[in-house]
Amino acid sequence: MRVWSHGYNVEVPYTYSYCKETSPLWIKWASYLGGRKPPKAEKFRVLELGCGQGFNLCMHASAFPEMEFLGIDFNPSQIAHAEELVELTGLKNVSFVEGDFMELKDNWPKEFGKFHYVILHGIWSWIPKPVRAAVVEILKNVVLPGGLVYISYNSLPGWLPGTIVRGVLLNYYLMTQKPVLQAVEEGLNILKSMEEMNALVFRVYPTLKNRIEMAMKHNRNYVVHEYINETHKLFWVYEVIEEVEPAKLYYIASANLLDNYLPALLPD
Ligand SMILES: C[S@@+](CC[C@H](N)C(=O)[O-])C[C@H]1O[C@@H](n2cnc3c(N)ncnc32)[C@H](O)[C@@H]1O
Repeated sequence: MRVWSHGYNVEVPYTYSYCKETSPLWIKWASYLGGRKPPKAEKFRVLELGCGQGFNLCMHASAFPEMEFLGIDFNPSQIAHAEELVELTGLKNVSFVEGDFMELKDNWPKEFGKFHYVILHGIWSWIPKPVRAAVVEILKNVVLPGGLVYISYNSLPGWLPGTIVRGVLLNYYLMTQKPVLQAVEEGLNILKSMEEMNALVFRVYPTLKNRIEMAMKHNRNYVVHEYINETHKLFWVYEVIEEVEPAKLYYIASANLLDNYLPALLPD
């Protein structure tokens, strides 16, 4: 772990993939489902806090050339990758800046401006409380009236079996002090052997098996970022709502669109 990263694991770079739920169109639709009219504007401005390698934001920027996008991340190698993508694609409506939430909370450059949409994907569960508080401070300053904020996190109760995967991988990494990718590989094999021995925990959490299978299929850099951070906090939805309330934000809808129909599907 490095001093500058506040416990966030920067030993290996993050992977990247497209996440449809972070699209401004998707967020807009979720907002309608939650009974709240999305913002109106001549030119929408979209901010991604913790934009990683910049792939996701570049995809949005190419899909919505009439919108303006800004991505911020404190990992210089990831920002360099994002800038390379901009150069390669020739996109004119997206830019990336290296910045740490802890510093930006008190020094948000005026020229960054304010935003109609803010995306936080894969951030909330992996940053410690003071950094989450810094993000809330930023949100208080940068979300335009009527703006929408998307926040993903590892939620309770569904993520409980994931704590077993995290526990085994992190313990093995810290106890053996092996390079993180090697520790993750060997840790996953330990979990697999536990499964083959039909360890009691697999009967307590029947979906643990699927979680291990998923982790085994994933790129190992992803597994490191998912499980080997100092912070890996699971949240009940009310806890997230409480934490972001100081930014005058409130819950509108789930970005898993079908979840919004759940009350209608449950028996009376
Ligand atoms: C799991 S990655 C998600 C990246 C991207 N949102 C995605 O879904 O591909 C989390 C990102 O948050 C960034 N990050 C963590 N702490 C940060 C901080 N204090 N300030 C800025 N970025 C931070 C990391 O560098 C990393 O790229």
